[in-house]
Amino acid sequence: MKVKTKLNNKPVVFDIEPGEYLLDTLRKHPVTSVKRGCDAASCGVCTVLINNEPMLSCSLLTARTEGKEITTVEGIQDAIRTFYDYFGDEGADQCGFCNPALALTVYAMKHELTNPTLEEVREYLVGNLCRCSGYEAQYRAIYKYLGDQS
Ligand code: FES
Ligand code: FES
Repeated sequence: MKVKTKLNNKPVVFDIEPGEYLLDTLRKHPVTSVKRGCDAASCGVCTVLINNEPMLSCSLLTARTEGKEITTVEGIQDAIRTFYDYFGDEGADQCGFCNPALALTVYAMKHELTNPTLEEVREYLVGNLCRCSGYEAQYRAIYKYLGDQS
């Protein structure tokens, strides 16, 4: 079946199997920034933005993206570059596997919350798991980034 959508601001027609999940569709295209972790809607590494809202691509049927806008980090490189500078400054970078999903979630948070508290930042990111960092440096970097951008 065909699904017409927009991927990173470009119109695209996905030719998919019925029941195909967006993570599989994107990896075929190939959007390699979108990672596969648990494949069970629990870890957050497959996050993409659908109409600017974070969603888990491993549990979202591609057919449901008809007429919507899908954004991955490939589509917001300039915005993301500044964010990664804060990560570097706070020593928050480790293996990087969770970074694309985290960056997209922060991008959405920046547009949704004004001057969030550290507690609100933590709460917003509760679905983004990281196997390496212990979170504290990440939260510090994100909190500073959002504070400086507002
Ligand atoms: S791979 Fe989708 S939530 Fe873990
Ligand atoms: S930095 Fe390795 S999973 Fe987050």
